[in-house]
Amino acid sequence: MTDQAADRPAKTILRALAGEALPVPPVWMMRQAGRYLPEYKATRAQAGDFLSLCYTPELAAEVTLQPIRRYGFDAAILFADILLVPQALGADLWFVTGEGPRLSTIDGPDGVAALKPVDAIHETLAPVYETVRILSRALPRETTLIGFAGAPWTVATYMIAGRGTPDQGPAHRLKDEQPAAFDALMARLTEATIEYLSAQVQAGAEVVKIFDSWAGSLKGDDFDRYALAPAKRIIAALKARHPGLPIIAFPREAGAHYIRFARATGADCVALDNSVSAEWAAQKVQVDGCVQGNLAPSHLVTGGPALIAETRRIVQAFAGGPHIFNLGHGITPDADPDNVSRMIEAIRG
Ligand code: CP3
Repeated sequence: MTDQAADRPAKTILRALAGEALPVPPVWMMRQAGRYLPEYKATRAQAGDFLSLCYTPELAAEVTLQPIRRYGFDAAILFADILLVPQALGADLWFVTGEGPRLSTIDGPDGVAALKPVDAIHETLAPVYETVRILSRALPRETTLIGFAGAPWTVATYMIAGRGTPDQGPAHRLKDEQPAAFDALMARLTEATIEYLSAQVQAGAEVVKIFDSWAGSLKGDDFDRYALAPAKRIIAALKARHPGLPIIAFPREAGAHYIRFARATGADCVALDNSVSAEWAAQKVQVDGCVQGNLAPSHLVTGGPALIAETRRIVQAFAGGPHIFNLGHGITPDADPDNVSRMIEAIRG
């Protein structure tokens, strides 16, 4: 008799991250727990507001599980937010309904000096680790649990401006006019990110992902200094503490920089936004390891034959190497939940 449990293949996401080209790519979606799902809106209403949802482990675990129950994704991503780290470092944080996040601003060395030491973050973030522990017990055994954090540059853009900005102007100004203060902020965020992700892994996260949503506004040397180098430092520190930990990095809109980023950072997988073509990325980026992406989220709003054709084209383009199917950015609140089912059907056939 064969031992069924021992024979069970490793989780598909972990196999892809280890470099295996699978006949059917595993799939999950950025922002898969979110406002396009009626069950998310119900749990969020029960929590009262978004931050209470993030800091109530039972409810955060519940919304993490909702898309797994509905669609059977191959991975669950911890429900939290990249802006919890600034809050844990002492920034004020609140969300304005219909607009987005607001934070106290940092405009020079005093603001950086006023931040709490890195060790202090766990006090605020303890409920997030509890969410991870609940999930690692509750998830189906074939589902991979992904933890995450924002990359230092992206988090810094919000801390400096106090909100999302179209061009990250305030962060660029602090970087160019007060480099010592900016570098001190980046260093603090880099160390905090290492501690935060390491604590998620200790609590049960099997993979971690680093979101650098605004990496695309860093040009030339700035890209290397503020996107590539911090990612490399975070990845090296995490791998030293947790040998074998797979890491996904998302330097959104990095364009041609994706190639060097994939080689130089030590990431096991780079997540591709939808500004790069799958055919280009298969030739230039996937040769160096696993890639994740890169369907435009708008297809989940519009659906129809274009959704199916585009999904199949991406699966086909990346079929020769390790690939995790995903979107190029987060699913939007106006997406049709049935289109997600159609996308999955087109992937799994
Ligand atoms: O399902 C998942 O992907 C896990 C949870 C998750 C959220 N935010 C929940 C969330 C993750 C991984 C994030 C990452 C995040 N948060 C990023 C990086 C990825 C990206 O989208 O570029 C950024 C930049 C943020 C900061 C943030 N959080 C913004 C700008 C906003 C407002 C915009 C919006 O979509 O409302 C949020 C709020 C937020 N984070 C929501 C969710 C589900 C919506 C909040 C609500 O319910 O009203």
